[in-house]
Amino acid sequence: MHRRKAEINLSKIMKTDFLVIGSGAAGLTFALKAAAYGHVTIVTKGEMNECNTNYAQGGICSVTYAPDTFEKHIHDTLVCGAGKCDPAAVELVVRRAPELIADLIGWGTRFDKTPDGRFELNREGGHSEHRILHHEDLTGAEIERALMEAVRKHPNIEVRERHFAIDLLTQHHLGEFVTRHTRGLACFGAYVLDLDTNEIETMLAKFTVVATGGCGNIYSTTSNPVVATGDGIAMCHRAKAITENMEFIQFHPTTLYHPGEKPSFLITEAMRGFGAILRLQNGEEFMDKYHPMKSLAPRDVVARAIHREMSKRGEEFVYLDVRHKDPESVRSHFPNIYEKCKSIGIDITRDWIPVTPAAHYCCGGVKVDTNGETSVKRLYALGETSCTGLHGANRLASNSLIEALVYADQAARHASARIDKVDFQEGIPDWDFEGTQHAEEMLMIIQSKREMQTIMANYVGIVRSNLSLKRAMRRLEIIYEETEELYNKTKPNRDLCELRNMIATAYLVIKQGRELKESVGCHYNMDYPQEQA
Ligand code: FAD
Ligand code: SIN
Repeated sequence: MHRRKAEINLSKIMKTDFLVIGSGAAGLTFALKAAAYGHVTIVTKGEMNECNTNYAQGGICSVTYAPDTFEKHIHDTLVCGAGKCDPAAVELVVRRAPELIADLIGWGTRFDKTPDGRFELNREGGHSEHRILHHEDLTGAEIERALMEAVRKHPNIEVRERHFAIDLLTQHHLGEFVTRHTRGLACFGAYVLDLDTNEIETMLAKFTVVATGGCGNIYSTTSNPVVATGDGIAMCHRAKAITENMEFIQFHPTTLYHPGEKPSFLITEAMRGFGAILRLQNGEEFMDKYHPMKSLAPRDVVARAIHREMSKRGEEFVYLDVRHKDPESVRSHFPNIYEKCKSIGIDITRDWIPVTPAAHYCCGGVKVDTNGETSVKRLYALGETSCTGLHGANRLASNSLIEALVYADQAARHASARIDKVDFQEGIPDWDFEGTQHAEEMLMIIQSKREMQTIMANYVGIVRSNLSLKRAMRRLEIIYEETEELYNKTKPNRDLCELRNMIATAYLVIKQGRELKESVGCHYNMDYPQEQA
């Protein structure tokens, strides 16, 4: 952490009971739950709906009716997680899911129903049953809409858009030397950059919630929107919280092959649950060689199989074929995908869809307990930023939204029960800074970002090796040093802070990948080839 002497834009101080960083499913749900107990301030770096949540397609998992059972959902989650799940987290999320779905519906979320009035359930890779509630193929946007409306109406919740959290406040800011082992390490809020005024505010909070989503943008090809830059993971790491399982970056097998488009447009796995089949460019089906569940195998298996087939043939995509299904039904189940593909000349009821894998989800993150609290007191990490233990080495499809909701509720209960015992921390200094801003610096930031994304894509992708991870680390170190140098002489700005956060997140992915001496789930290392497709 660097504090520099004041030069421009005086800082200001504000106080709030609960400071929530991020306005996706995790942050908004926490806010709605906590607002009954105190004042909530949400800061978010873009517009409120700029988040991964808004892009979710397939849906949200919950055991709803027979023949599904909690035991089956638990079993599928554990199998997919490849032995690395925390069974207590799995039990918690699966068994509490129906309650949180009821809350979502109470806040106005509309899920699709069958003509006889039951919820219509999707099925995706690794699921033994249909258990995914959805709203067409736009489930995330519908959930985000309902949560935003409820938040906007709530008198105890204040939302500050275009506010970028830079760093978390701990005893470090009182001049103490802290490490990951410091006893009683606690969080007192955050420094937040107002992107309109360029002012850095000291936001003091009794409880701070980091719900900043994932880090897909550390890769050159990702399904994640541009906001997913690992900010929360990096901030928590700098604040000396513990992170884990970062090597388990999940690649979604089927994003639309449309070179140059960012983010990569997702073709939901629910389409394979609906009956779509993966084919090579020559039309051959190939998934039967890799897994008994074929195109509906767990996501890591399918992504690796596609990667292997493409590498063997020097090809950049495979096809997804849904032409054999009733066209009207395809259009009504997947209206968003139908329209998107049509806009680039693909009629999915008649044509094969070219697809290719892309970085999609961070299964690891900031380690939390069953209350969502990190190793730093009064600091919670929720949603994709966190590592609860639910996903293990590979997330079961559509388990992340429900995880975000369940842990938001756990955290709100835990924090609100302690609110009367906690005071605002005195003595935190304003952020002091001086520095320059030159056009040349912006160019450097863009170039370093591209270099980092290429390193991650080339050496830390679906398939890795000890050598590729070593190379990635060496190359990243150079970019790290150059970026720190730039940061130390430059006024804080969003692009530079994001680059810094992406480098820190990429570092954790590589470091934790090098420490794991096996291939498991989303981490496939060619030097440990056991039991993997
Ligand atoms: P997000 O929804 O990403 O929200 C993070 C928020 O933090 C954003 O508002 C962002 O602007 C803000 N933020 C970030 N950094 C800062 C900062 N420094 N300062 C201030 N604000 C900041 N999961 C499912 O369960 N089912 C699905 O069907 C599904 N489909 C998906 C499809 C796509 C294309 C993608 C990308 C993901 C999908 N996922 C799905 C995963 C799921 O959407 C995410 O894991 C989940 O929405 C994460 O929610 P969140 O609240 O943790 O983060
Ligand atoms: C999808 O709809 O395929 C994405 C689901 C998920 O990532 O959970």
